[in-house]
Amino acid sequence: MRRAVCPGSFDPVTNGHLDIIGRAATLFDEVVVAVGVNASKSRLFTAEERMAMLTEVCADLPNVSVAGFSGLLTDFCVEHDIHAIVKGLRAVSDFDYELQMAQMNSSLVDGLETVFVPTSPEYSFLASSLVKEVAAFGGDVSALVPASVWPSLLTRLDERRTAQG
Ligand code: PNS
Repeated sequence: MRRAVCPGSFDPVTNGHLDIIGRAATLFDEVVVAVGVNASKSRLFTAEERMAMLTEVCADLPNVSVAGFSGLLTDFCVEHDIHAIVKGLRAVSDFDYELQMAQMNSSLVDGLETVFVPTSPEYSFLASSLVKEVAAFGGDVSALVPASVWPSLLTRLDERRTAQG
């Protein structure tokens, strides 16, 4: 059984993430989308909300499941008997840090490979942080996130605006 993990923050999941997850699902028998829970970073959506959004948008991918993790990615891989990490690469600028993480992870767990998948060109500029920033200023980036995510994003940005006064 070839099992892989697609780790990330997914705050929120974008069409670029979905592209990588879908392609990973064709390369591996099973793919676990692992939502990083980093208590020190403030996120727009809670880990539970991010996982629920991912579960909904991956529902048509039968070999994809969604889980959360709060420690080291390598511990998650060992616990779930996963030997491959799939990461999307948008541009050369992603490569330095991704290579560093890949090498660190393989030094922590023997035989744990990182597979880099080049982002499809139409998503090469896409990042959750940019989507949030543009949407917060009223820009229409609805085409860049799954249809079910867009209303949740607008609602959360509204709630945040109201809370901030
Ligand atoms: O979507 P992101 O924010 O680029 O995802 C980063 C993530 C969550 C995949 C990465 O930060 C991670 O693997 N965090 C878990 C903690 C860990 O293992 N750190 C050491 C990396 S070498």
